[in-house]
Amino acid sequence: MPAKLPIPDLGAPLPTVSSAEMLDRLATRRSASAPLLAAPGPDDAQLRDLLQIAARAPDHGKLFPWRFIVLRDGSKAAFVEALRRLADHQPDADKARTALRKLEAPPVAVVVVSSPKAGAIPAWEQELSAGSVCTLLLLAAQAMGFGANWITDWYSYDRSVADRLGLAAAERVAGFVYLGTSSEPPLERVRPDVAALTTAWEA
Ligand SMILES: Cc1cc2nc3c(=O)[nH]c(=O)nc-3n(C[C@H](O)[C@H](O)[C@H](O)COP(=O)(O)O)c2cc1C
Repeated sequence: MPAKLPIPDLGAPLPTVSSAEMLDRLATRRSASAPLLAAPGPDDAQLRDLLQIAARAPDHGKLFPWRFIVLRDGSKAAFVEALRRLADHQPDADKARTALRKLEAPPVAVVVVSSPKAGAIPAWEQELSAGSVCTLLLLAAQAMGFGANWITDWYSYDRSVADRLGLAAAERVAGFVYLGTSSEPPLERVRPDVAALTTAWEA
């Protein structure tokens, strides 16, 4: 796959044709197990493309109320070390340290930061948009042949970690999206009975 994907010009007509291949992939989407993710992860050009796709998330008001922090190589190792020290202060330090394996294994981690803007668009909607960014990133990574997993764990909710990542007071971690190559194919997990979750509203 070429590393560079098209970036449509503003106002350009976009495709509306059906894609059986895309439907197949969506119907079989599955996260990879984070501890099983290993090199190779996306290179710089591939990661740029993945983030470009993720940034096409629906976004009420075109506020782009999210941003990305990339952790890889030495910076990710340093981050893991810092978290290891912070894990000692968690209520269940052993569990907190064990959770770090999910962060340690994958070659690339993208922190999707929800960064809501003041104004008329409710913060809830802006946070939903950040969730959509995470989902698109998972889908794009899978389409590029990588395994991916969206993880929060304790360190997404810890203020010291947020400070270390440079988050402003109003910003929150929407998720750590881990990217790499899975040593095993993911297995299908239980899925809901969608009919049982669906009703037709009647007047
Ligand atoms: C907002 C969010 C946070 C999540 N955080 C965690 C987590 O901290 N630890 C974990 O094991 N799975 C977490 N998951 C679940 C996995 O990302 C994954 O979705 C789940 O294992 C189900 O598999 P699937 O994505 O293949 O359907 C989270 C999912 C979401 C949507």
